[in-house]
Amino acid sequence: MKKAVCPGSFDPITNGHIDIIKRAAELFDEVTVLVVTNPDKKCVFSPEERCRLIEKAVEGINGVKVDSFSGLLADYVKQNGISAIVKGIRSSSDFEYEFQMALANRSLAPNAETVFITADPQNMYVSSSLIRQIAAFGGNVSDFVPKNIVEEIEKRLK
Ligand code: COA
Repeated sequence: MKKAVCPGSFDPITNGHIDIIKRAAELFDEVTVLVVTNPDKKCVFSPEERCRLIEKAVEGINGVKVDSFSGLLADYVKQNGISAIVKGIRSSSDFEYEFQMALANRSLAPNAETVFITADPQNMYVSSSLIRQIAAFGGNVSDFVPKNIVEEIEKRLK
């Protein structure tokens, strides 16, 4: 069984993430969407809230599960027999950042490959901070996040 992980802070999950998760689910038998800590970021949603939103957002996508972990991604990958770390790439600046992480993860967990999937052009400008900002000022985020979590995100951030 080929297992992959889609890691991120998901603060909150966006349509851009969903696009990558769906395409990863076509390539692997099992995909875990993993809420991990980026020590450089202060998140607005708690890990539990982020997992709950992701669980609703991935309803109906076969072979996808949700988990959270506070530690090194490489350790999670080794502990769970995962063979691929899937990342979405929106731009060359994403690549610079992701390339460095991929090399570090390769050194820490040599049995796992990082696989880059190019973002759908429609979602290239979408980011979690953009969504947080729009919702905080009372804007409509329904074009940027899955329909079944719009209300919860807008209510929570307004
Ligand atoms: N479409 C749209 N937006 C996307 C996207 C896509 N396909 N992919 C990412 N984004 C956005 C996110 O919304 C996020 O936006 P924000 O900066 O406004 O919050 C941004 O791009 C970066 O997201 P993400 O890929 O989740 O990166 P991150 O920096 O938040 O998370 C971790 C990186 C959590 C995976 C990384 O820090 C990690 O592995 N941490 C665990 C500790 C560890 O192992 N550290 C060593 C790593 S070598």
